[in-house]
Amino acid sequence: MRKPILIGNWKMNGSLQANQALMVRLLPRLRLFRRAIDLAICPPSPYLFQVRDLLGYTGVMLGAQNAAGYVSGAYTGENSATMLQEMGCRYVIVGHSERRVLFHESSQEVAARFRAVLSAGMTPILCVGESLTERESGLTSVVIEQQLQAVVDEVGIAAFANAVVAYEPVWAIGTGQTATPEQISEVHQKIRKFVAGSAPEASIDLGQELRIVYGGSVKQANAYDIFSLADVDGGLIGGASLHADEFGAIAGALADASGVTGEVSAI
Ligand code: 13P
Repeated sequence: MRKPILIGNWKMNGSLQANQALMVRLLPRLRLFRRAIDLAICPPSPYLFQVRDLLGYTGVMLGAQNAAGYVSGAYTGENSATMLQEMGCRYVIVGHSERRVLFHESSQEVAARFRAVLSAGMTPILCVGESLTERESGLTSVVIEQQLQAVVDEVGIAAFANAVVAYEPVWAIGTGQTATPEQISEVHQKIRKFVAGSAPEASIDLGQELRIVYGGSVKQANAYDIFSLADVDGGLIGGASLHADEFGAIAGALADASGVTGEVSAI
């Protein structure tokens, strides 16, 4: 049984004041769903401490947006996985397309970051996805399999038992252009098949156990339809996670789509 998960990726947005205001409005909405679904917020690193304190005992988990592939040393500007773990992070996004494209992180580098996150006892959220040109050239599966294979080569397929995969088509991120349910289903099924196919026969059915979430212009208006798809286990939300009403409604849509309706618990 795959527990649904909703992750808010704030990207490089926020301020002490804005974060406080957002969380005060958001947390009462999220806590209604915290038993039904897993919830995580990934603020920019300078705000991890603040957000950790604001999350308190709500059950909403803290995540980071990236981690170094090195343990420690002369890597100016990087945050080690151990540091993030020490700050209370449970999840770390790795391989986001903004890192791959804007900061030229290769799939091998992403794999090293994935390894570091796992070694520090946290759950990597591995982002994969194709550009518009790649999709139009019929390369979607090839690109995604290459991104997955690099991680398999680094840590082995069994490591996916402790990971989340996020399918984020690059052309759908921040554009308002969501992938269609057919496109999402097709890729999610292929990811499951790839993982199952890479696992040794004797191992648990990793393909079926793996949580695969979708990201790319998810909004209140389209969330339920996306989350109702059989192979979608939740969402990685950018822009809409910065709005309490919107993100709260998306959490509600995920709980509803997962068959858990209404108020589950209040603290
Ligand atoms: P948007 O929800 O703003 O399209 O961003 C998706 C994303 O990149 C989450 O990591």
